[in-house]
Amino acid sequence: RAGEPEVEVFSVPSYACQRRTSLENHNAPLTDALSLLAENAELNDEEGRGVAFRRAAALLKTLPSAVMSASQLRGLPCLGEHSLRVRPLTSSRSQLVLTGIFGVGAKTADRWIREGIHDLHQLRASGQVLNRAQRAGLQHYADINQPVTRAEADAIEAIVEKAVSSVLRGAQIVLTGGFRRGKPSGHDVDFLITHPEEGREEGLMPKVKTTRNSYLESKDGPGRPPSNMDRFERCLSIFKLPGAAETPQRAWRAVRVDLVVSPISQFAFALLGWTGSKVSFRPDLRCYRSSDGSPVRQSLMFDFCAASEEEIFAHLGLEFVPPSERNA
Ligand code: GTP
Ligand code: MN
Ligand code: MN
Repeated sequence: RAGEPEVEVFSVPSYACQRRTSLENHNAPLTDALSLLAENAELNDEEGRGVAFRRAAALLKTLPSAVMSASQLRGLPCLGEHSLRVRPLTSSRSQLVLTGIFGVGAKTADRWIREGIHDLHQLRASGQVLNRAQRAGLQHYADINQPVTRAEADAIEAIVEKAVSSVLRGAQIVLTGGFRRGKPSGHDVDFLITHPEEGREEGLMPKVKTTRNSYLESKDGPGRPPSNMDRFERCLSIFKLPGAAETPQRAWRAVRVDLVVSPISQFAFALLGWTGSKVSFRPDLRCYRSSDGSPVRQSLMFDFCAASEEEIFAHLGLEFVPPSERNA
């Protein structure tokens, strides 16, 4: 009717893996606030609340326009009173600063805070015993907390590709993570490595790591934990990127790089897993697979064979979602 604004009532499937979420976000102020709340909840070990905020943010990111009134959200999943009940922010600046150090998680940060350590200066002065990864993380704190550009990611890809093929001819490497989803920048660069002949990839990671010149420090993931998506060999590292453009007086800058190696038979699963997004798309795949909406066991998640991401979606009864639409 004339004079009355038209409000669209949104309708959205329950799980992020059933939706398309591009990088275009019409509700950034809301989703930024929810992400901050999620981060705070997680830093306070309130995992349930963290997940609720993440899911609410993921849902708002997928909407085709900005929310103008709450009535537009009626009946949508994930936005119940429970998930949106907001408590005061209790995580501190110190927690954010300390967990920003490579190799430092929420537990370690909390312990230090209880011991009166609130910033990098106090940490350096405290004489705390740091492991190798943490020492490197502290040393390269500023570099590592500066976003990585797509151009830097491409430069690193070229270097890693060369290193990988020099230790194993025919090995293939793919850029995964946020950059594969089309993000213009990221907090790190993620790579997945495989070889077209099953088994040839075995033992590759230690060899890549000893092409030392570009690797500063690394924190290895568990070798072969039992769960399916996590059973790949991986190396979370700090990479020495030569010739950082903005600081010509410095010869290189430190960048976080994650490497994962998978046998070709598991490549599609590894690719799907390491493309993410980690906050919603991947977790929702596990919820979607179960009958009651609670996450299905990791080990039961991919109890079938697939040669491509397309085959995985088809097997799960999902419409294919391209990487650029997995930005939930
Ligand atoms: P930015 O790095 O901030 O650009 O975002 P991102 O989406 O690339 O995030 P991140 O690098 O943290 O993760 C990339 C992918 O790696 C995500 O899909 C995660 O699910 C996956 N990933 C990260 N850590 C782990 C892990 O410990 N185990 C497994 N299996 N996957 C992981
Ligand atoms: Mn990443
Ligand atoms: Mn990563």
